[in-house]
Amino acid sequence: MKILAISGALRKASTNTGLLRALQELAPPTVEIEIVTLHGIPLYDGDAEEAEGKPQSVKDLDARIRAADGVIFATPEYNFSIPGVLKNAVDWLSRGSHFLKWKRVGMLGAGDGVYLGTGRSQYHFRQTLQSLQAIVMPRPEIFVNHNRDKFDASGNLTDAETRKYLAKWLEAFIEWVEKKP
Ligand SMILES: Cc1cc2nc3c(=O)[nH]c(=O)nc-3n(C[C@H](O)[C@H](O)[C@H](O)COP(=O)(O)O)c2cc1C
Repeated sequence: MKILAISGALRKASTNTGLLRALQELAPPTVEIEIVTLHGIPLYDGDAEEAEGKPQSVKDLDARIRAADGVIFATPEYNFSIPGVLKNAVDWLSRGSHFLKWKRVGMLGAGDGVYLGTGRSQYHFRQTLQSLQAIVMPRPEIFVNHNRDKFDASGNLTDAETRKYLAKWLEAFIEWVEKKP
């Protein structure tokens, strides 16, 4: 099984990208998780699209998504919603392409908030995924709060409890991808 894991954060020490690395470590040998970031995707501009079409970086990401059996998004929360970087990438990808139609999708996130741990951004992103006709795993959900205490300075997950929960989440996601109706 091939899973594409997309991070909504560009920071080298991003805890969201760190969550995806932890998933890679937890994956069984039959499941390959490839991590991508959204570096190199320009701001959506309708004039540029008309003049030059989709940027190569967007076409490449579209192809990688299509080749994957399932897609995982790790999203931070910026001002109670998803980062512009993630929304921008999705907006580009959606132009003339049903890139997530019927695709099995999972979502998780880490933030420094005390309580909600990206709950708000994830629920905003679910709304966008609805428009893209993705088949989004309803639960279990992962909202990692207090990320400063759960990751090291390089963004690697250090919290054993979160890792344990992540393993259960991954098991559920693999089942979600496998059990197509
Ligand atoms: C512009 C901006 C807005 C933010 N807004 C929120 C927020 O609404 N809720 C929250 O929990 N954290 C917020 N944060 C803090 C992020 O949770 C924190 O920076 C987190 O580590 C980002 O994810 P990363 O580690 O993957 O880069 C914000 C950070 C930035 C840069």
